[in-house]
Amino acid sequence: MTVTALIVAAGKGERLGGTVSKQFLPIGGKPILRWAAEALANHPAVHAVRIVIGRGQQEQATAALAGLEVGALIEGGAERAGSVRAGLAAIDGNAVLVHDAARPFCPPPVVDRLLAPLEFFEGAAPVLAVGDTLARFGETLDEPVDRAGLVRVQTPQAFRLSALRAAYDRWPGGAPTDETTVVRAAGMRVAAVEGDPALEKITTPADFRRAEQWLAGRLTPRTGMGFDVHAFAGDGPLMLGGVAVPHCRGLAGHSDADVVLHAITDAILGAAGLGDIGEHFPPSDPRWKDASSDRFLAHAVALINAQGAILDHVDCTIIAEEPKVGPYRAAMRARIAEIAGLGVDRVSMKATTTEGLGFTGRREGIAAQAVASIRMGLVA
Ligand code: CTP
Ligand code: MG
Repeated sequence: MTVTALIVAAGKGERLGGTVSKQFLPIGGKPILRWAAEALANHPAVHAVRIVIGRGQQEQATAALAGLEVGALIEGGAERAGSVRAGLAAIDGNAVLVHDAARPFCPPPVVDRLLAPLEFFEGAAPVLAVGDTLARFGETLDEPVDRAGLVRVQTPQAFRLSALRAAYDRWPGGAPTDETTVVRAAGMRVAAVEGDPALEKITTPADFRRAEQWLAGRLTPRTGMGFDVHAFAGDGPLMLGGVAVPHCRGLAGHSDADVVLHAITDAILGAAGLGDIGEHFPPSDPRWKDASSDRFLAHAVALINAQGAILDHVDCTIIAEEPKVGPYRAAMRARIAEIAGLGVDRVSMKATTTEGLGFTGRREGIAAQAVASIRMGLVA
């Protein structure tokens, strides 16, 4: 069986509101659409992932999906069903998993549960029991609806591709909200497998907040440390914590020698297990000659965000006899916060001398230590 995952992401997200369609909003630093696409792409039974987007969404979608193998983006329709039809016409394989981009978290076992029944059924869908009382509603509550035998139907939904295409060919029109509706209308059988609360669709602002909380509960706290030294050389000013500090001497280095930003960058990379600054910005590479170190820090933050990690806090100690750091401490905190996308209260800056001892004591250079706290995302 060759399984293609088809993710429909052509909606406008009107019920969530805001200026950006919901599928492109980040949760834990990663766009909702990317969460959905990675979850399916990483499942060993899925051979290809294809994405349907709306007209004018090409740029946002390309950015959200950077680096993922999703082939050419498919243009969808005005209704969800139109988007699914466009997708079905553009894919191949003999089974399809149709999925809403608005459901970022897909636990892998759900996919296994969905594919198994395709041997005997045209389709399979994940369902959850209804826990609340159900009733019709007009101006006030009307008659209750017996919830026995009722379920809520989620996506992804699995189908034999030929069956789903045939069902859509026979669909009389109207706007089905999922594919089981279309396949059932064509008289085909759909297996119900156990769904998962993690698959809940993001429709309203309350759903969005719930998804953020759900993810936050699954992030693992991690800490990284960084250390750097640069020797005094030439004339000042010198760059410390992204701020030009007036001083009679400068610091030697391939880049701008900002020992503070280098230590923080290493701490962030370390927290995520992403190597060190020298690996990402080798001193042998002429691109980084005299480079402003804010680029290194911003890049490290972008790298961990791309892994679904969130930077929470950085703490730094500058070890130097000179220059005096105190007058520049607030400016450094503000600049680091700006580069790293943190609140200023999440950046701490301290300084100490070494009482005349060692190389910093002999005023040969400046050292900096940093600790970064991050919350590491799920490895989908
Ligand atoms: N969808 C689509 N094409 C459409 C409409 C919706 O591909 N013309 C997709 C959405 O992007 C979403 C899924 O279908 O991933 C479920 O739809 P829904 O939750 O209704 O999303 P939106 O239509 O974007 O939201 P709203 O209805 O609030 O505008
Ligand atoms: Mg909609």
